[in-house]
Amino acid sequence: MGEVPFNFLSHLERETGRIARECCGFGVDFQPIVRVADMRFGDFQVNGILPYGKRHGADPRQLAGQLLVALEGESNFSSFAEVEVSGAGFLNITLRVAALGGWLAAYGGAEDFRRAAIAAMAVAGRRVVLDYSCPNSAKQMHVGHLRSLVIGDCLYRLLSFLGAKVIRDNHIGDWGTQFGILLRQLRLEGVRLSAVPQEETLDLLESLYRRGNAEVDRSPEALAEARRELVALQGGDPERLALWKKINELSYASFQKIYDLADVQFDLVLGESFYRNSVARVYDELLDCSIAQEDDGALAVFHGEHKRFREQPFLVRKSDGTSNYAATDLATVLYRMETLGAEEILYVTDGRQRDHFEQLFLTVKKWFAAKNYPLPTLRHLWFGTVCGDDGKAIKTRSGEPVRLQELFDSAIGRAGEILRGKNPNLPADERTVIARAVGVGALKYGDLSQNRTSDYVFSLEKMLSFDGNTAPYLQYAVARGRAVRRRADGEALRPGTKLEPATTEERVLAHRLLLFPVALAMALEDLHPHLLCSYLYDLACEFSSFYDSSRIFGDEKEVAERRLGLCEITVNFLATGLQLLGIEPLDRM
Ligand code: ARG
Repeated sequence: MGEVPFNFLSHLERETGRIARECCGFGVDFQPIVRVADMRFGDFQVNGILPYGKRHGADPRQLAGQLLVALEGESNFSSFAEVEVSGAGFLNITLRVAALGGWLAAYGGAEDFRRAAIAAMAVAGRRVVLDYSCPNSAKQMHVGHLRSLVIGDCLYRLLSFLGAKVIRDNHIGDWGTQFGILLRQLRLEGVRLSAVPQEETLDLLESLYRRGNAEVDRSPEALAEARRELVALQGGDPERLALWKKINELSYASFQKIYDLADVQFDLVLGESFYRNSVARVYDELLDCSIAQEDDGALAVFHGEHKRFREQPFLVRKSDGTSNYAATDLATVLYRMETLGAEEILYVTDGRQRDHFEQLFLTVKKWFAAKNYPLPTLRHLWFGTVCGDDGKAIKTRSGEPVRLQELFDSAIGRAGEILRGKNPNLPADERTVIARAVGVGALKYGDLSQNRTSDYVFSLEKMLSFDGNTAPYLQYAVARGRAVRRRADGEALRPGTKLEPATTEERVLAHRLLLFPVALAMALEDLHPHLLCSYLYDLACEFSSFYDSSRIFGDEKEVAERRLGLCEITVNFLATGLQLLGIEPLDRM
């Protein structure tokens, strides 16, 4: 057997295709698709012979039989797998135990695995700007900010694990209309912020904003006044700038509390206001290249080739001359290309911003082409809504969005209660630390395990359950595995340990372990963390069956070493997976 392939699935896809064409007379249009099989039938299934046969008027079973003979004739193939024809023209592939053992020995160590993953996934060295979290200042973060935070952080971990150079940029909304409304309201109600105790300021600002917003909705005069406030602020009026600065400082401090709690960091925090002096260049260049049109002071981009954006404008400057979300976003792309050297920019926001990003990307493409600027790959990684039991965006009883701080606090509090019930002997200070990891982990996992583009119904009880597809279940599996290692005196997996699975449970576990690269590749493709979650959950379930059915200690030395080895690799993979999700693997619970 030559070198063991890291990703068996893609290896089989390549090899079955190559052998079919080179040794079996299949045409170049034969594109096998390999799937993970139901384990009763083998490890993998080769699909694609059926449609190929149909296209060519040939019997698929016969074609499958020919391919089988060719595969068996390739020693490089037959040395690690057995093949059989099944159904109407599929091939089932079962890996030999030596191949499984060889794979585990080659890639079971955390470092070996990572090195191979970096080599296989082809994102190493790529300069990626990751735009996530990005709350608006003057407000506190609420449940609507959970997903961008958690998904963005996970994508950072995944991409940098695979060797990409990721720059995390928190593009805070600090230059928009909320300030016009707020400044007007502060003036109107005669509020002196310096006289308000620090810890009450954000609450006060939020209620001022709510009142102001209601008035602006109701009265055209109020709206005009709020607009004038924003014009004055953006024009650099010192008094308003000083207030604005104070409000931002307070907001950042409250964001930072959440970031610390969630263990999320940024490389850059450049709010919209950072671009206030670069928007002029954007306007000039867009006009210069005839991409934007002026209309009564406003600047708009239409995309004639698009059925909606032909008429729906992308407004990049308002008629009063103030910049808006689109203007600062355009300037931001320029900065990320020119100054940060971005080859790719990823935006993690709510799905309701799909139009904005589609229009932004269309505009940037035309603008950069006209100017001969290198165009980074632009991707909007949007997500669905967190819903309450009524299926609508989750709200408090009084109709306000739930604060993120409160959500974290209650998850941690509830985790503490559950832990006290399950393990009353845990010392209190240790329980506090574990409760935090479990509570925060449960919230993160509850979100990440959902398809990014779906809405989901929020349930703290489900997220904190120790059974099912949850963080506590996975953290518990790791803690259990680590306890086994402690019992084995912390002996790490010895090089040369024979890892060939010998029982059904061992085989099922080994099969799942070698699918870790497949799961990573799938999660990477469309940047979908839930695919990694499902993998980890399957792995934890199979580990649990293995653990319950197989005596690890007490059998002969060789059996014990093999089982300890499997346990060790499983714990490595689970811990690596949890870390990629931003969740702390635990030693005990
Ligand atoms: N501040 C925006 C919001 O709260 C999100 C910003 C996302 N990033 C960006 N470059 N537009 O919805």
